[in-house]
Amino acid sequence: MPDSSFTLDPRWPSIQALIDAHPELRLDLGCGQVKPAGYVGLDNLIGVPPDQIAHAPSPGDAAPAAGALEGPDVYLDLNQEPFPFPAGSCAEVRARHFLEHSVLDHIFAEAWRVLRPGGLFVIVVPYANSAWGMYPGHSIFLTERFFAESEPFVSRFAIERTTYRQDEAWEAWPRLLRRLIPYDWARTHLFNVCKEMRIEARARKPSEDGAWR
Ligand SMILES: C[S@@+](CC[C@H](N)C(=O)[O-])C[C@H]1O[C@@H](n2cnc3c(N)ncnc32)[C@H](O)[C@@H]1O
Repeated sequence: MPDSSFTLDPRWPSIQALIDAHPELRLDLGCGQVKPAGYVGLDNLIGVPPDQIAHAPSPGDAAPAAGALEGPDVYLDLNQEPFPFPAGSCAEVRARHFLEHSVLDHIFAEAWRVLRPGGLFVIVVPYANSAWGMYPGHSIFLTERFFAESEPFVSRFAIERTTYRQDEAWEAWPRLLRRLIPYDWARTHLFNVCKEMRIEARARKPSEDGAWR
């Protein structure tokens, strides 16, 4: 386990208890107040009063209340601290609308370290070439080109799938024009055509049998 400075949500007595409760570890980096069921949320949530964060039930609780799966399990500065999980312990690492706030090399190195061979890294970012991508507060502006060319990324991950979410501004264009202009061309040449990009990538590392996954 790496030496990491973090605070556990009070419902977890120890990091080992959290790990034991998640036999298939799936991390949600920068989860904010909402994370998918079954995921372990990591965030710093700076400035959010503790009584405004919804908490998940303790393991074994009978009926989770509405919103009960929200909120981080682990509080830490993801841009500086190692993730407090052993190497190769995670099936998936997810980061939705977080990378544009992050120190990419550190996040890529840590996501790769905790993923098992062939483990899934799911990235959802606002597309740079849009008002969503340019939102104040973002420090990084991302398109598919960066992921395809970034040595720290491609040396650790094999991109499996890239998908895009259309912007409402593009959907409001006359249908005839949208038929005439290929979406891939419009996305890369025009503003506010794509608002979000999702990348699914697999950790390149050798498995126990020595084969690379
Ligand atoms: C735009 S919100 C996205 C929240 C959620 N993933 C979603 O999709 O709705 C970005 C999140 O990243 C978190 N964040 C930003 N910088 C962080 C850091 N250095 N360490 C931990 N969390 C951070 C913020 O607290 C916030 O919850």
